[in-house]
Amino acid sequence: MLFQPPLPPKYSALTDEEMCQAIALRKQELGSRLVILGHHYQQHDVIRFADFTGDSLKLSQIGAQQRDAEFIVFCGVHFMAESADILTDDRVKVILPDLSAGCSMADMADLDQLEEAWAFLVEECGADLVPITYVNSSAAIKAFCGGHGGACCTSSNARAILEWSFRQGEKVIFLPDQHLGRNTAFAMGIPLDAMVVYDPRRAHGGLSAPRVAVSRVFLWKGHCSVHGLFTTAQCDEIRRLDPEFKILVHPECTWEVVQKADLAGSTEFIIRTVRESAPGSKWAVGTEIHLVDRLMNEMPDKTIRSLAGIQCLCTTMYRIDLKHLLWTLDELVAGRVVNQIRVDRETKKLAVIALERMLANVSPRPVAIR
Ligand code: 13P
Ligand code: SF4
Repeated sequence: MLFQPPLPPKYSALTDEEMCQAIALRKQELGSRLVILGHHYQQHDVIRFADFTGDSLKLSQIGAQQRDAEFIVFCGVHFMAESADILTDDRVKVILPDLSAGCSMADMADLDQLEEAWAFLVEECGADLVPITYVNSSAAIKAFCGGHGGACCTSSNARAILEWSFRQGEKVIFLPDQHLGRNTAFAMGIPLDAMVVYDPRRAHGGLSAPRVAVSRVFLWKGHCSVHGLFTTAQCDEIRRLDPEFKILVHPECTWEVVQKADLAGSTEFIIRTVRESAPGSKWAVGTEIHLVDRLMNEMPDKTIRSLAGIQCLCTTMYRIDLKHLLWTLDELVAGRVVNQIRVDRETKKLAVIALERMLANVSPRPVAIR
């Protein structure tokens, strides 16, 4: 995880209103040189300044289309900014307003661990293994996948990418999110006993040779701690309270929660599903709280609540705030680029292969995992 040095003290003295006015002014000053991208989990104060909002897939597509902008300020987390840097040419500078905005799931897989896993599994399975990484991973992991015949996916196209990977080889290692991997493979008809968790902290992933032989999908032992807060007990409670509620969750939730839900899909899928539902419909949504709050505010004609009674907050996304956004823009106006996210050339060369395979397998509408 990167470390964000403290901002100059003057930013702490500003009110929210003063910061909003200054951000709007800086945007005007920078004009078409600047594009601000905002992920759906961003706080309300910040996302209102985004030129484009989206899920990871949509933001990667928009990032890749940027030809004229000089600066992309990415209001999201580190892996998203890295992907934007990989997908744009060197002229475009990608900036993350707070360097500490990482993703704990992405940090659960590092290259050394993957190389070790690969050596063991290829030895056991033969050359038939395809590495697939969720886009919530480091550029180095993406590069490994690109360089070994694999690809990236997002929760919007995980199924299309897994189908693609089974046309390349018989077995897949899916990282770093075991839940997205399991939920997607299960939806494709792969039974649970043909999947096994690979634990990078144990010798040989904790797997025996016979277990490797009978498995088709190796699920990296990683997860999202935010989506891990949703439980089957909450699903049962909602159904008991009011059977009219439909349960709609992100596929980073556990398999058990996804099985109890009515629908599961990416943040873009969640937004679209609720927007397209009839007035009066009731939704219990299992994803980050800022998105759920926004849906509630946008559609007062529907009953929308979080699946959990507690606040499921992505604390790293939350690090991007008005202060950091304003500081970044102030510096750009002054001719200084701060917090630039740069992926080295060698890593980029291979990571782009994995990301382009991801972008080549996109359906026009976000697809449900369940
Ligand atoms: P989406 O691709 O659905 O936006 O999800 C990204 C993410 O990090 C969810 O936790
Ligand atoms: Fe990472 Fe989870 Fe936050 Fe998404 S919600 S950015 S997976 S920690």
